[in-house]
Amino acid sequence: MKRFIGIVGTNSDNSTNRMLLKFIQKHFKEKVAIEICEIKDLPIFNKPKDQKAPEEVQRIANKIVEADGVIISTPEYNHSIPAILKCAFEWFTFTTRPFVDKPVMITGASYGTLGSSRAQIHLRQILDSPEVKARIMPSSEFLLGHSLQAFDENGNLKDENKINELNEIMDEFVQFVDITNQLVGSTYSRNKDINYFSWRDK
Ligand SMILES: Cc1cc2nc3c(=O)[nH]c(=O)nc-3n(C[C@H](O)[C@H](O)[C@H](O)COP(=O)(O)O)c2cc1C
Repeated sequence: MKRFIGIVGTNSDNSTNRMLLKFIQKHFKEKVAIEICEIKDLPIFNKPKDQKAPEEVQRIANKIVEADGVIISTPEYNHSIPAILKCAFEWFTFTTRPFVDKPVMITGASYGTLGSSRAQIHLRQILDSPEVKARIMPSSEFLLGHSLQAFDENGNLKDENKINELNEIMDEFVQFVDITNQLVGSTYSRNKDINYFSWRDK
């Protein structure tokens, strides 16, 4: 069974994106094992002189490296992603760059109609930067609008159409993980790229 990490893209204690990832974890438990990962306690990135990332950052980076794929669920703040999610990527670029060649699927939930679509575009752009160099599943979006009303009291998505959409996107992602890992040849590309790029102070 494939092992995925689900990153909750917010530091809010009350998050419909966290609810969405928990639902995905439960709904697909026979198909994939998903560990939910929080970034809420990460410090703000400050380009430390000793060039060391905090332990918590490295701990999450290690989990990402070991996972077959990553699902990121983002809220939308000011038409973009929350600061803490941006901050996490800045730390990751400063550590072992765990997203290099990592298959990623993006989901998102927002209170409005558009379901985090504008935040997802920004997230895709960040993931696609040569510094992060993730392998993002193309031509796919999972947008959960009106997310405050989307779940029942057991944390299940109420809308059957949305569940069907999730079923399709997860099938696609499992295939995408296989194809991507064949394409990138895993560790060779990772090591080469990690050594190649460095924004560290000399
Ligand atoms: C500072 C702030 C900015 C927001 N900006 C947007 C926005 O640009 N577009 C939008 O659809 N919702 C916006 N919202 C509402 C979000 O839809 C909602 O907070 C978030 O996506 C829900 O995610 P969560 O339940 O995981 O916290 C904003 C909320 C906050 C607190």
